[in-house]
Amino acid sequence: MNAPLPRPSPPMAMLAELTHRCPLSCPYCSNPVELSRKDSELSTEAWIAAFREAAALGVLHVHLSGGEPASRPDLVPLVAAARDAGLYTNLITSGIGLTERRVAELDDVGLDHVQLSIQGTDAAMADRVGGYRGGFARKMQVAGWVHSAGLPLTVNAVMHKQNLDRLEETIELAVTLGARRLEVATVQFHGWAALNRAALMPTRAQAMRAREIVLAARERLKGTLVIDYVPADHHARYPKACMGGWASTGLNVTPDGTVLPCHAAQTIPGLTFERVGSRPLKAIWETGAAFMAFRGTDWMQEPCRSCERKTIDFGGCRCQAMALAGDAAATDPVCSKSPHHAALVAEAEADAEATPPDFVYRRMPQNEPVA
Ligand code: SF4
Ligand code: FES
Repeated sequence: MNAPLPRPSPPMAMLAELTHRCPLSCPYCSNPVELSRKDSELSTEAWIAAFREAAALGVLHVHLSGGEPASRPDLVPLVAAARDAGLYTNLITSGIGLTERRVAELDDVGLDHVQLSIQGTDAAMADRVGGYRGGFARKMQVAGWVHSAGLPLTVNAVMHKQNLDRLEETIELAVTLGARRLEVATVQFHGWAALNRAALMPTRAQAMRAREIVLAARERLKGTLVIDYVPADHHARYPKACMGGWASTGLNVTPDGTVLPCHAAQTIPGLTFERVGSRPLKAIWETGAAFMAFRGTDWMQEPCRSCERKTIDFGGCRCQAMALAGDAAATDPVCSKSPHHAALVAEAEADAEATPPDFVYRRMPQNEPVA
């Protein structure tokens, strides 16, 4: 019989998905296929209580995300409350729904950091990918307001087959916008993005070239811009430690208050989830059934169980194992030791070489005009 697990360390970060509403329609949307409706969203008071509980549990950072968090009219008081609770606040936004005045108000209440997504380096590309006319122009304005307010800015660029060849321009744009950090993140093919694999999967040649560009730019822009690069999963030999290991460093709260070990955990059948307010967040984190399910290494099967990397990558991503191998406890098929790896690579290479079909956009039926 396995020894009882020691009490887990507190999570560092909480991802607060304030709403699933979003004016954009990105074909690689990472939100669940089943979205929370506006009328099921947590109230302002419930979010404030959740921030206080998170801080008491030991959470240091709250990432305010969505959907588009600016779709919440109470964004400014929510940021104020998170700051009052002692949390470092990071706003993850498309920029749509922010105005100059709102950025100034967010700065006034102590917002610590802004992460702005871009879908391309010009309006033609960005508005086509995001499915939102005028989006690029607004993002450029928002970056200017953020910069003028003196707020630290990270640009998040989701890269894929159709824009990876413009990586150098993307890096230059981040510098021009005054960003301190650029995340070059290749699309992850979870959820909606899986419908657009042939339109988005980058080729190996693109990925290799991107790596060279990033290495050269890191050298050239030392002291100006930090660049993170996340390559396509199937170009790696081993998987990433998704979430730093299940239920080890972070938790997510969905718009309706469901507490998850990762943003896609609801795709794993058989897990049961709790809501904020049903039990103390500390109890949910430490003993909640979904959090216990894959914490540590005792749940692992071979080849992970006897692998020297099992405490480095924790077997990769549970949700990806579920999606690609049909078993959440299997080795992530991204790993070269997985029996499903060869099939995954073959499928990805075929998608990468395919002529890109039209995007299947993520239309949000419940969208409402934003401020
Ligand atoms: Fe990681 Fe498991 Fe692959 Fe080993 S076998 S590298 S632990 S995913
Ligand atoms: Fe759920 Fe990776 S997205 S564990």
